[in-house]
Amino acid sequence: MTKSLALLLSGLLLAPAVEAQAYGAGERSEGDFSWVQPLNTTILGPYGHSPAVYPSPNATGTGGWEEAVAKARNFVSQLTLEEKADMVTGTPGPCVGNIVAVPRLGFKGLCLHDGPLAIRVADYASVFQAGVSAAATWDRDILYQRGLAMGEEFRAKGAHVALSPVAGPLGRSAYSGRNWEGFSPDPYLTGVAMERTIEGIQDAGVQATPKHFIGNEQETMRNPTWSRNGTVTDVIQEALSSNMDDRTMHELYLWPFANAIHAKAASIMCSYQRLNGSYACENSKALNGLLKTELGFQGYVMSDWGATHSGVASIEGGLDMDMPGGIGPYGVNWKAGSFFGGNITMAVNNGTVSVDRIDDMIIRQMTPYYWLGQDAEDFPTVDPSSADLNTFSPRSTWLRDFNLTGPSSRDVRGNHGGLIRRHGAEATVLLKNENSALPLKAPKSIAVFGNDAGDLTEGFYNQADYEYGTLIAGGGSGTGRATYVVSPLTAINARAQQDGSLVQQWLNNTLIASSDIRDLWIPAVPDVCLVFLKTWAEEAADRKHLSVDWNGDDVVESVAAHCNNTVVVTHSSGINTLPWADHPNVTAIVAAHYPGQESGHSLVDVLYGDVNPSGKLPYTIALEGSDYNAPPTTAINTTGVYDWQSWFDEKLEIDYRYFDAHNISVRYPFGHGLSYTSFELGPITAECVVGGSASVTSLPEQLPVQPGGNPALWQTLYTLSTPLTNTGDVPGAAVAQLYVTFPNSTPEGTPPRQLRGFEKLLLAPGETGTVSFDLMRRDLSYWDVNYQEWVIPEGEFTISVGFSSRDLKQVAVMTPVTSSEM
Ligand SMILES: *[C@@H]1O[C@H](CO)[C@@H](O)[C@H](O)[C@H]1NC(C)=O
Ligand SMILES: *[C@@H]1O[C@H](CO)[C@@H](O)[C@H](O)[C@H]1NC(C)=O
Ligand SMILES: *[C@@H]1O[C@H](CO)[C@@H](O)[C@H](O)[C@H]1NC(C)=O
Ligand SMILES: *[C@@H]1O[C@H](CO)[C@@H](O)[C@H](O)[C@H]1NC(C)=O
Ligand SMILES: *[C@@H]1O[C@H](CO)[C@@H](O)[C@H](O)[C@H]1NC(C)=O
Ligand SMILES: *[C@@H]1O[C@H](CO)[C@@H](O)[C@H](O)[C@H]1NC(C)=O
Ligand SMILES: *[C@@H]1O[C@H](CO)[C@@H](O)[C@H](O)[C@H]1NC(C)=O
Ligand SMILES: *[C@@H]1O[C@H](CO)[C@@H](O)[C@H](O)[C@H]1NC(C)=O
Ligand SMILES: *[C@@H]1O[C@H](CO)[C@@H](O)[C@H](O)[C@H]1NC(C)=O
Ligand SMILES: *[C@@H]1O[C@H](CO)[C@@H](O)[C@H](O)[C@H]1NC(C)=O
Ligand SMILES: *[C@@H]1O[C@H](CO)[C@@H](O)[C@H](O)[C@H]1NC(C)=O
Ligand SMILES: *[C@@H]1O[C@H](CO)[C@@H](O)[C@H](O)[C@H]1NC(C)=O
Repeated sequence: MTKSLALLLSGLLLAPAVEAQAYGAGERSEGDFSWVQPLNTTILGPYGHSPAVYPSPNATGTGGWEEAVAKARNFVSQLTLEEKADMVTGTPGPCVGNIVAVPRLGFKGLCLHDGPLAIRVADYASVFQAGVSAAATWDRDILYQRGLAMGEEFRAKGAHVALSPVAGPLGRSAYSGRNWEGFSPDPYLTGVAMERTIEGIQDAGVQATPKHFIGNEQETMRNPTWSRNGTVTDVIQEALSSNMDDRTMHELYLWPFANAIHAKAASIMCSYQRLNGSYACENSKALNGLLKTELGFQGYVMSDWGATHSGVASIEGGLDMDMPGGIGPYGVNWKAGSFFGGNITMAVNNGTVSVDRIDDMIIRQMTPYYWLGQDAEDFPTVDPSSADLNTFSPRSTWLRDFNLTGPSSRDVRGNHGGLIRRHGAEATVLLKNENSALPLKAPKSIAVFGNDAGDLTEGFYNQADYEYGTLIAGGGSGTGRATYVVSPLTAINARAQQDGSLVQQWLNNTLIASSDIRDLWIPAVPDVCLVFLKTWAEEAADRKHLSVDWNGDDVVESVAAHCNNTVVVTHSSGINTLPWADHPNVTAIVAAHYPGQESGHSLVDVLYGDVNPSGKLPYTIALEGSDYNAPPTTAINTTGVYDWQSWFDEKLEIDYRYFDAHNISVRYPFGHGLSYTSFELGPITAECVVGGSASVTSLPEQLPVQPGGNPALWQTLYTLSTPLTNTGDVPGAAVAQLYVTFPNSTPEGTPPRQLRGFEKLLLAPGETGTVSFDLMRRDLSYWDVNYQEWVIPEGEFTISVGFSSRDLKQVAVMTPVTSSEM
């Protein structure tokens, strides 16, 4: 059975899920949601449905936006219905997303731009390190500075909205093609990264758009498949449905979004795929329920590009802005119009949708605009060069006029190159270092191997996995257009010149892998062989394997067979199996991920010890690729329209939570990363912040919801601290990590240990400092599906502090709740 798009478009057939079933226009009165159909669990399986949550809550501006919300209300009160329809509907223009101006009210429109590591559609802008690299710093200040610097560049180019940062995918599957755009499969680490990045972006005066909400954990089948025959478009199969239970939703996937909203993110982008059967951009449980009610989100929900699949149902389900405005996702078709736009005018006029709901959509959008002062006269105009670089909506597609004023091709990079270099070095993870292979000490002879070492050979806007050139970012909307790239080879040559080192190079992987490399170099074994490997990943495709690309494993074997000091460096989207890691001649392994434009400099700073590495893995490296659970759902061989289902049956067991729960040995644990010095942790001391542990209750006090949810959840209950000493002979930073083991009374399925604190401390040799961790109520709670509440379980918690999830040095126990009052 195929479903005709013509029907879809008329609003007769809506989501495949039951929540938004067919309803005839005008059949119901205000506030009557009885048209929502009962669930049919026979078709949908144990949790293949999404409960109906209507109506969509109005924004109130609570939590600091009260003044801005008043301005927004005043603005909306002056709009005509046609203008209202325009305000919530994208249109082709100079930016990747555009809201047209309302000149009579002095509103100059909105410019929305990608993405998470750079303003992508821009010239003279910086390419920052990718999310996975930023996460590897485990550094709250760097996360903030990176966000701030990116925000400054967006603003200077005239972008009001940055489509960034990413917490979905979280990283359920090691294979997901977009994990590198986000941070870490650990929700706590990603939560901190989201919060700090958003604060940075918004402190620069730009709206952040955490994405993709929610359950966007694979690329395969993220959109429906369509067939076109002339003017008729049929859905062949609907997009994949991510089906997850309520506890998994709260404790894993929703967790970092709660941080994002707590940080007052302006906007949330809903994702392409279905969630419990219903498209994420019309899923009322997710948008009206979780986001706008439970988390108290006061901003607006925008669709991913072409992720809107209905008009009225999406509006009632909680979607506030349709982007980019044309109907997609089979290539966005501007001429086909939008489910919003003129349809909103009609739907209001004929009584199907209340104008109050449309007003709320715009109030939600204009509140952060006023809050961030984007109405100021001096907010920069959209850089006209944006229009020339925008291949997504080139001028030929524009339906409206845009005033492109101000100087073109503005250089917005400032002094960010130095910052990117430093951040890249701080993100570099030293996985292995034997025989003091690193830091390098003015080696007399260096040999460089691998196609990842040299300059980019096919341009600085790298959207393909081509053979020759180092990788600084992945592909898709999350990439950036570099203005320069410092390759490892360039930086090594510059440094070698200072030391008088000889540098030989072989960049052809096929040649290296198939040669006796002794035939390649001039006599005598080089002092060090540096092998550069790369791993590509991009939007819209999941990774096919977890190995390094371009025959890299064979390159390492070939070099290590004859070079007893082989140092391997990877530039990778994330998880790689490293089958040669225990090879005795592989003396060091460095995971440099996607470091951005200063790649070579960042790396050389670490290789030569100018920067002591302190990066830590934001994920686990398993022994075998097949050790990872939760692979993407790929081979659905049946043809039913709704057959693409992904059951998140592993629940909370992803990444280290899974390996720990099943005692599986790993190669490098979550949180691992070496230093050129050594550290020691002293005993843990705990201080109960809320006036004696007697006052800790299982259930949080029911306070009025603020952005981020019940403020009681964000209250610090305990401050734990431990002394940290640099016991080596060079300065260095350690990241102390705190893991919580919940009491036995916690419901089944609770992971053995969960990260709930980290702090990075830079210490001189012999110096001792104190690391402290604030444990909030949420950190000690599990989501109770019956109470629909965060609950601190009764009994003894074990708190472990160490240098990775499997290198725990200090343990303490505490019992916050002695008897349950529930
Ligand atoms: C209304 O929505 C349909 C899709 O349902 C679209 O084809 C049409 O162009 C829209 N109309 C307007 C006026 O935007
Ligand atoms: C639910 O779906 C099944 C399978 O299509 C069907 O047999 C059954 O009648 C449906 N139940 C209800 C209550 O609609
Ligand atoms: C998904 O289904 C589960 C099980 O029915 C339910 O508990 C959960 O609330 C649903 N979540 C969403 C977002 O629909
Ligand atoms: C939103 O506010 C309008 C009036 O401003 C009111 O009519 C409507 O009922 C409110 N909606 C909700 C869901 O509270
Ligand atoms: C396309 O539509 C025409 C007219 O309806 C029909 O005759 C033809 O079989 C269709 N082609 C395909 C490939 O479905
Ligand atoms: C009202 O307008 C909406 C949007 O165009 C349309 O789907 C619906 O069929 C209309 N209803 C009536 C009764 O005209
Ligand atoms: C463009 O600028 C002109 C002159 O300042 C102004 O009259 C017009 O309203 C502007 N149009 C838009 C769409 O902003
Ligand atoms: C790389 O080496 C292989 C094997 O020697 C050779 O076939 C290939 O042409 C070389 N590629 C380039 C770009 O030189
Ligand atoms: C390590 O490298 C040396 C040359 O430096 C070589 O003789 C030896 O066989 C290599 N070891 C292995 C296990 O390949
Ligand atoms: C490598 O082999 C050379 C020559 O046998 C030896 O001098 C050197 O110490 C070895 N290096 C390492 C790191 O084992
Ligand atoms: C689909 O077919 C492939 C190849 O026969 C098989 O490996 C795979 O397990 C099948 N998938 C499902 C979900 O049955
Ligand atoms: C894992 O190992 C621990 C300690 O050896 C043991 O108590 C536990 O039962 C093991 N768990 C599993 C799932 O094998």
